[in-house]
Amino acid sequence: MQSSIHILNGPNLNLLGKREPAIYGTDTLDDVRRACEARARKLDIAVVFRQSNHEGQLVDWIQEARDTAAGIVINAGALSHTSIAILDALQAADKPVIEVHLSNIYRREVFRHHSYVSAAAKGVICGLGPIGYLLALDAMADLLASR
Ligand code: DQA
Repeated sequence: MQSSIHILNGPNLNLLGKREPAIYGTDTLDDVRRACEARARKLDIAVVFRQSNHEGQLVDWIQEARDTAAGIVINAGALSHTSIAILDALQAADKPVIEVHLSNIYRREVFRHHSYVSAAAKGVICGLGPIGYLLALDAMADLLASR
């Protein structure tokens, strides 16, 4: 496969491991990145792994992915529940999108039950912790291979 899968992470995910560990676990984002890179090697795919606390930066990265990525795996954090700009960027990207959340957003506060990202996603994985990212990569590799 020539182009890579872009794994994009939104606000506060840089605090993973320290932030509300009862909800998000003790793995750091660096642990998640390393696990994704290891899975990508097994799947023989390339990944680009990024995190930003800024909506505009995420929009810029999604626009970049439009030109260079085969697919997008995104955990937009709280912006999932608020950002029409991210939804518009994902729809404009015209690539397969898989949405990931570490926590089960449907077992939490009502304001987390709606995600704008879902409207652009082929599939959604939530509640499984960091394994969700690896399942998303498996699914994306499968999806791209069957195209
Ligand atoms: C999250 C869920 C969001 O509701 C929250 O704002 C996050 C993390 C998750 O991975 O479970 O920042 O996306």
